[in-house]
Amino acid sequence: MAVVSDFKTAKQRYVMLISVHGLIRGKNLELGRDADTGGQTKYVVEVAKVLAEHPDIAQVDVVTRRVSDRKVAGEYSRPLEVLSPKARIVRINCGPDKYLPKEHLWPHLDGMVDHLLDWLRSEGKVPDLIHGHYADAGYVAARISGLLGVPMAFTGHSLGRTKKQSLLAGGATEEQLERRYRLGRRIDAEESALDSATFVVASTQQEVDEQYQLYDQCDSNRMRVIPPGVDLKRFAPPARTSTSSKAESDIRRFLSAPEKPMVLALSRPDPKKNIPRLVEAFATNKALRQMANLVIIAGNRDKIADLDRGARETWWKLLELIDEHDLYGSVAYPKHHRADDVPIIFQLAARHRGVFVNAALTEPFGLTILEAAASGIPVVATNDGGPREILSRCKNGILVDPLDVPGLGEAILTTLKDANQWRRLQKSGVRGVEKNYSWRAHVDTYVKYVHDATRTTSSARKLVQPRGRLLTADRMLITDIDNTLIGKKEPLRKLIDQIRRAGSKLAFGVATGRRLDLALQALEENRVDPPDFLITSVGTSIHYGTGLVEDRGWQYHIGYRWHPERLRKITESFEALMWQENEGQDTHKISFIVREGHTFDPADLHAVLRRARLQAQVIFSHGTYLDLLPVRASKGLAIRYLAIRLGIPLDMVLTAGDSGNDEDMLRGNTLGVVVGNHDPDLHHLREEPRIYFAQGTHARGILEGIEHYRFLDESASRIPLASSAMG
Ligand code: GLC
Ligand code: MG
Repeated sequence: MAVVSDFKTAKQRYVMLISVHGLIRGKNLELGRDADTGGQTKYVVEVAKVLAEHPDIAQVDVVTRRVSDRKVAGEYSRPLEVLSPKARIVRINCGPDKYLPKEHLWPHLDGMVDHLLDWLRSEGKVPDLIHGHYADAGYVAARISGLLGVPMAFTGHSLGRTKKQSLLAGGATEEQLERRYRLGRRIDAEESALDSATFVVASTQQEVDEQYQLYDQCDSNRMRVIPPGVDLKRFAPPARTSTSSKAESDIRRFLSAPEKPMVLALSRPDPKKNIPRLVEAFATNKALRQMANLVIIAGNRDKIADLDRGARETWWKLLELIDEHDLYGSVAYPKHHRADDVPIIFQLAARHRGVFVNAALTEPFGLTILEAAASGIPVVATNDGGPREILSRCKNGILVDPLDVPGLGEAILTTLKDANQWRRLQKSGVRGVEKNYSWRAHVDTYVKYVHDATRTTSSARKLVQPRGRLLTADRMLITDIDNTLIGKKEPLRKLIDQIRRAGSKLAFGVATGRRLDLALQALEENRVDPPDFLITSVGTSIHYGTGLVEDRGWQYHIGYRWHPERLRKITESFEALMWQENEGQDTHKISFIVREGHTFDPADLHAVLRRARLQAQVIFSHGTYLDLLPVRASKGLAIRYLAIRLGIPLDMVLTAGDSGNDEDMLRGNTLGVVVGNHDPDLHHLREEPRIYFAQGTHARGILEGIEHYRFLDESASRIPLASSAMG
């Protein structure tokens, strides 16, 4: 295993990029193999490599899902791959071994969070910044960032709300979208990532204005526009000598005078790309038609009838126009090309003193414009967000109204007519891309934002030294009190007896909604031995040992973004909510009861909080209790904090509960046990891969869970059921 050098100067940062889905490796990325292995995969690997070369970067880890499946290459199961001296790919388990499409990963992300925590603990080093790519990794990054108090960044790549809009417009129903794409989970994950991120990276301002702005948690002050880089090794002006290629002969055979300047269009045959208007512009401008050829590279086709509807209609229209204007001999539209041909085609156009045209109806980014510029071809492009930004920086062409057919033809002609002008545009484009759109330029800007985000490093936690069993234990039993630990005398005595007999290897704790004083009271009344630790007020407070030493570090950690006054104010408008008695309130907990006869939907409160830009966890139990907690606090988060501190892996932690406020301590990699008398709140956890539903009620259910997991077996130094992150 490659060991990261521990040496790190004060200025240097350790950055972790998380990109969960698809197939990621350092070489020969299988781009386009499936919908999940494409642009994003390429982007993350590219950024990691170049980022690692930056002097201010100590280490870059790309964290992705580990896949061990005969259907894919063996490399994707390797826990670690070294990319360069300072960059690695780290593969972490996430659900089953087999390769899964991203829509199916949602139930496994909590588990991945826990495996990643285990891995971080084994490395003994915490990143300075965690950057989530796409909604799934955004979710993972937000959880880890909250737990460790490390700043996070987020890049959506593509966004659920945008997709939802266009699918709904296309006639799909909400239900179909949920079933097919899990858009609800995705959008929630995006909202929480946007909320937690110190900064968000977008490719263009238009992406911010039209896409990110659809989100409640989009905050313009935290949005950063950094255009992605162009691969300047692949896209470069042509060398003096050229070798002929198949791509070239595929084009030439259409043309009667192939040496003429080339007007090139390259895009998917999507109606949005507006290719028919370009054909019209070319056909109806006499001078242009005389001096140039038109080359259309629009996807691949065997039979037009087999293409999807948009592509089919585009092609029919194109063929019709070519025929109508009798463009035979001056328009080429080859049937096939490979991804590797694209740089060759651009070079061909550059050698033929060509012009690249992107007349799309809208163009938020326009990577092909950059590739054309890098290859030395001037451009004519739609006057929209992406091209506007590119052309203003590179000064390499003309912006046009994509609906103005004669204007389009004139712009192309102007670009081609004057050879000196053409050369000026060519040079300016090549230089502009190098300066503004190289990976190095991208990374330089990114590192500036990394510094901004990590300048104020997180609080040094005041650590309470573990004592007694907390020091010797290799496993933890953590149970809720009401309706779980207490309620049935005889099994409770049996459980207490088992805990005593387990001795120093077991740490015993409770995690309850009760405030500390009331929790102690309940334990005493039921003659439960003093636990090694108490997590009280729904995870907002942690105390250790018989001395009840408070964990001040935890208090400090969860105070982040906690605005109790504003929360109290905003909840006043909810008729259905009634304050709990004083003992229900705590420093980091605001609690209500739902009035009898009233209905209350937590989603409504979520929506109001979002609109007010207020962050809080909303926890609903037994259909009556409602708790508002800081974003960094809950029973589950408190347990993870403890497990990290005590060095106990989560798959050696058994948690037991019965209702809503127990949910997040039951999920993930802990050994969850739901007792038989559980509330309907928890029904849906049956879908979770690793939660045991006991038959027995109360403490009998816990005993059953201990048995099920063989949790207290002498031999079980590690519970076999749980596969650990690094194999
Ligand atoms: C306990 C607490 C109460 C809380 C409830 C649900 O009953 O006393 O304040 O609302 O748990 O978490
Ligand atoms: Mg309970």
